[in-house]
Amino acid sequence: MCGIIGFVGDCAASPLLLEGLHRMEYRGYDSAGCALGSSGRIDVIKSVGHVDALAEKVRQVPHSEKCGIAHTRWATHGVPSVRNAHPHLDGSGKIAVVHNGIVENYAELRGMLEKRGVVFASDTDSEVIPHLIAELYENDPVAAVTGALRQLKGTYGIVVLFADHPDLLIAARCGSPVIVGHNDSCGAVASDIHALAGVVDQVIYLEDGDLAVISGNRVALRNLQNEPQTRQEIPLENECTAVNKGKFEHFMLKEIFEQPQAIAQTISGRILPEEGNAKLSGVDLSPRELATVSRIVIAGCGSSLHAGLVGVYYLEDIAGIPASVEQAAEFRYRNPIIEPNTLVVAISQSGETADTLAAVREAKQKGAFVTAISNVVGSTIARECGNGIYLHAGAEISVASTKAFTAQVTALYLLALRFGRNRRLGANEGRRFVEEIQLLPGLISEVLLQADAIRRIAEKVVDCDEFFFIGRGPLYPVALEGALKLKEISYVHAEGYHAAELKHGPIALLGKNVPVIALANDIPGKDKLLGNLAECRARQSPVIAVATAGDEEVGKSVADVIEVPKCSRYAAPIVTAVALQLFAYYFAKARGCEIDTPRNLAKSVTVE
Ligand code: M6R
Repeated sequence: MCGIIGFVGDCAASPLLLEGLHRMEYRGYDSAGCALGSSGRIDVIKSVGHVDALAEKVRQVPHSEKCGIAHTRWATHGVPSVRNAHPHLDGSGKIAVVHNGIVENYAELRGMLEKRGVVFASDTDSEVIPHLIAELYENDPVAAVTGALRQLKGTYGIVVLFADHPDLLIAARCGSPVIVGHNDSCGAVASDIHALAGVVDQVIYLEDGDLAVISGNRVALRNLQNEPQTRQEIPLENECTAVNKGKFEHFMLKEIFEQPQAIAQTISGRILPEEGNAKLSGVDLSPRELATVSRIVIAGCGSSLHAGLVGVYYLEDIAGIPASVEQAAEFRYRNPIIEPNTLVVAISQSGETADTLAAVREAKQKGAFVTAISNVVGSTIARECGNGIYLHAGAEISVASTKAFTAQVTALYLLALRFGRNRRLGANEGRRFVEEIQLLPGLISEVLLQADAIRRIAEKVVDCDEFFFIGRGPLYPVALEGALKLKEISYVHAEGYHAAELKHGPIALLGKNVPVIALANDIPGKDKLLGNLAECRARQSPVIAVATAGDEEVGKSVADVIEVPKCSRYAAPIVTAVALQLFAYYFAKARGCEIDTPRNLAKSVTVE
């Protein structure tokens, strides 16, 4: 949520800030702003909407300031508007702050400040921060910022700019990611590693409670008691270069088509064909320790939660280990019972989701062994777990998750195989799983060949405003995921349901304008699914079936068929998810929706 960036160096700051905001735009894009500092004054420019609108405003006046901060917003407190866009200023206009996170005690702080005569210019929680700093400022920026931060409850990643010190930035972190970096001629800070690519060559991930003083190319770390801190400085990874859409109209389509390669990378180096096993060096457990794990609990949100639901099928069916999924947002609040020898697997594409991070902390404090499945190297969740499986799916920019979802499911397939071989699978059985895992990139490529056919089917129902997705077994979570994808980018109402649950209520909503997407792949449970599908047809809903190529039985009973290749019930969730991603994409495109940055959403949800 919200992208923050700051730059101080020997060249104009504004082009670098705008480029950084563009790269972080997927974190939030309802408004944007920047503050540029030169001796004694700060210029603030803000606009509503995408970063392009801000860039246009900034370009209208030449800006040579060499120090500045900027922000792209996903609104929490206060509607998207220029007055609520960051940076926020203190009353004198000489201290500017960008903030990512939520100040939970802002109402109390705001009341206190207003009683002292402070006038607020926005409805945000964030604006209390510059005012608190101003109250404590006596020409010592570090003392003023630490004093202000000690009064905050909640989460923050902030960068502060002082008009009196235009060669200095102060950044701090508590619960929201902040990365500082430098090279020979500049220092920079951002909430997202990609925003720093090409700007600095060494980076430091701040820990909660850290404060960084960036002056020119020097970075000094302290804590809120003003004691010096030391953190490892690491070279900026090569993979953090700028990403572009290539020949594709949208990142989402590009990322859908990248899946054969992405999944190949998730699998790469993790298969032991001879042993019929998976090698997951990131999950730091010996065979003896693996054998002591008595239960696996998966935690995640959104698409990652759906991947976890597929993972439960894998872990119980392949490995014979009890497994369950928790909505990360509920995990810590319902005080879960974590028995000894429970392994908690936190799934998060971004590795920054606040609820999933909180689940990790709760699980650790309850004594569980905790591991992460994440796509972002160095992300907070990955570092907090200290071990896990990186997806290596490549940067996912589109807000709607596609390749990360299928890579997460693949990683869970590998994990289930690893546990399975540790428990009840013989080498021959293991080899059969290995063979299928190796086939996954090719199976996905076959689905991608159906893109045009899927587009035509999506266009046929373009006027419908309500959809049901139904599935059974491991395809039930895929029905949830298909519905999430559709509603996320096309704003129609789509519900994912277990096929058998439909008749327990939602069937009342079916009718000729409510298409049902039935996941009727030729895997165990298909016969029952066909029965459920007949129930939908009898209520006049047009049925679009996802079916195994050549399955005439399904073909003759539905309006349209999306064909996917023949595969086992373990590969079926992956190939089916790809087909539904394409359906959602072409449907949203036909309705003229904004696909990569859908309304109201953000890629990385760093607030609870
Ligand atoms: O980065 P995470 O995997 O933790 O994100 C979790 C959800 O916010 C995310 O999957 C969201 O549901 C996607 N936009 C779905 O496409």
